[in-house]
Amino acid sequence: MDILIDEARIRDRIREMAAKIEADYANGEEIHLVCVLKGGFVFMSDLVRAMGPRVTMDFIAVSSYGKSTKSSGEVRLLKDLDSGLEGRHVIIVEDIVDTGLTLTYLQDILRARAPRSLKTVCLLSKPSRRLVDVTVDYIGFSIEDKFVVGYGLDYAEKYRNLTHIAVLGNE
Ligand code: IMP
Repeated sequence: MDILIDEARIRDRIREMAAKIEADYANGEEIHLVCVLKGGFVFMSDLVRAMGPRVTMDFIAVSSYGKSTKSSGEVRLLKDLDSGLEGRHVIIVEDIVDTGLTLTYLQDILRARAPRSLKTVCLLSKPSRRLVDVTVDYIGFSIEDKFVVGYGLDYAEKYRNLTHIAVLGNE
């Protein structure tokens, strides 16, 4: 498998993103991060450890139906949050934005819970694949239309534990 983004680049970029996020919420208020399982768990883990003590976190799990039937846009909620979002500064933490359908769904259901603010951070983005115009406030790396694994991202539940991002080859 070819390495697309190595561990050091990911680490450096996450530090930059964490600093930018902290600076954007300069008043010291709590920032509530919502990790999208499963793919977001490695990114979330490194991101929160690069941030200060005012961070709180929660986890949500969704599954997208049939990636191949790409226009269906059906997303199913598998695990909801433990706590409410009303009045909080919320940031959705996702591994990758591809068509944008999953994030659009998540933003819609979370916005309905009346957070004080709602932003989204994604480690990766494949802009050429977008089917819907979704706002992502912070993006780690924009990549070409290649299927990638590692650092939380899987192929058939494998490779999530790679410490880098790799392009899935045919081995
Ligand atoms: P979207 O709804 O099409 O934006 O899809 C987002 C979800 O598809 C991500 O959370 C991933 O779970 C999955 N996904 C999209 N592209 C890739 C990839 O290259 N590798 C692994 N998973 C991917």
